[in-house]
Amino acid sequence: MTTLLRNGTLLTASETFAADILIEDEKISLIGRDLRHPNAQVIDATGKLVMPGGIDPHTHFDLPMFGTVSSDDHYTGHKAAAFGGTTTVMDFVVLEQEGFQRSVDVWLEKSAKAAIDYSFHMNLTQFDEKIAREIPSLRAMGITTLKVFTAYNGNLRLDDGSIFKAMQIARDHGMLVMAHCENGDVIETLVTEALKTGYWEPEWHALTRPGWGGVESTLRVAGMASAAGASVYIVHMNQGGEVDMLKYARERGVKAMGETCPQYLFFTIEDLRRPDGAKWICSPPMRTAPDNARLWEGLSEGLLQTIGTDHCPFFFNGTQPIVYEGHEIAIPGKELGKDDFTKIPNGLPGVEDRLPVMWTCGVRAGKITANQFVAYNSTNPARIFGLYPRKGALLPGSDADIVIWDPEKKVKYGVAHSHQRTDYNLYEGWELTGMPEKVFLRGQLIVDGKEWLGKAGMGMFLERAEGVFI
Ligand code: URP
Ligand code: ZN
Ligand code: ZN
Repeated sequence: MTTLLRNGTLLTASETFAADILIEDEKISLIGRDLRHPNAQVIDATGKLVMPGGIDPHTHFDLPMFGTVSSDDHYTGHKAAAFGGTTTVMDFVVLEQEGFQRSVDVWLEKSAKAAIDYSFHMNLTQFDEKIAREIPSLRAMGITTLKVFTAYNGNLRLDDGSIFKAMQIARDHGMLVMAHCENGDVIETLVTEALKTGYWEPEWHALTRPGWGGVESTLRVAGMASAAGASVYIVHMNQGGEVDMLKYARERGVKAMGETCPQYLFFTIEDLRRPDGAKWICSPPMRTAPDNARLWEGLSEGLLQTIGTDHCPFFFNGTQPIVYEGHEIAIPGKELGKDDFTKIPNGLPGVEDRLPVMWTCGVRAGKITANQFVAYNSTNPARIFGLYPRKGALLPGSDADIVIWDPEKKVKYGVAHSHQRTDYNLYEGWELTGMPEKVFLRGQLIVDGKEWLGKAGMGMFLERAEGVFI
């Protein structure tokens, strides 16, 4: 199939210019002015922006947690992502006792219904000599990234020595360690004390996970990366002190990179104090308004490298069904913790919201440039995670993952507009300006206005190469 996108304004991580794009089969074949092709279907993009499809480096679809499961699976979450202008997602594989191959196979089975392109990070939540020996085998499975946790004692956490060894292995095998930074020991003690005292409300989720734990853990992990001569990527950076630590480390030559998520730019612990505060429960938690502001500075000043979503949705009231694609569905969610904040499933929806929210509140508000928008949401994730220039670029030879963006389209946003399979939206009632109009995945139109043209199974697993430090 041949498609010609005419008269659009191309938006990349570094440039904005008028040009046409010729798409042949799955690839961009030509970019230039006044392109012609005898058999092409022509789409007029006059007045629109044309940008590479979003890449979300941080999602959790179909993730078992607290006796339930995140409510978007590898089809519903992909469809939602596509409606928000995202064409590639990176999901985290749960490490099973049976080892890496079995764990990846489980995630590949779950992903058979993928609707957009996807790849995996491996959660490195166990560590011994056997696992250490087997880490390099992940490269042959197309996985080049390992997520480690400095929190979730007795569950996901690795001790510092194991994290350090994992970094050395990653360094030697073209892989990258991603770090969830909190202080697990402090959290464990504070949670025990809070429960003993009878505190059950959602705000205690944040009060038992103090910000300093994230700040010192960010510096600790950066310090370990420096000692290992490795790169490290800090996921879901949520507070000003972490931005400061990242800056400190990078200024001293440490190869540390950072991701933030939209929720940490807008919400605070005050949201957890609302009657529906459980909607904002995720880990790390929401912080304060000055933290929001410093994270914005981190983006505008280029101290941070990416925006991910950490999309891990749950129903607010999983006893009440919603209608999804004509069928009623209810999945146990936040109500599981109505009497105990430690039983509220951790996570929020966001995979669809990221681009529209960041356009209105970032680009239109003058906090980031349109080119930074593309860099953080697409090009930088592609470069860091070994997908560039196949993904994240408007270049001849790149996959034709393309968003035609209407910068003037106004929407009253919220759950009725969104395709995320949950009963609430963090941005309910927000007036947004700027929305995807058409979304192409490898040359195929999958979103056309309100119409869904994608299909379960059309998403492709992406084997990733070694990424780069930026
Ligand atoms: O609350 C969250 N973020 N759930 C997903 C797991 C994680 O740590 O990213
Ligand atoms: Zn995490
Ligand atoms: Zn996560």
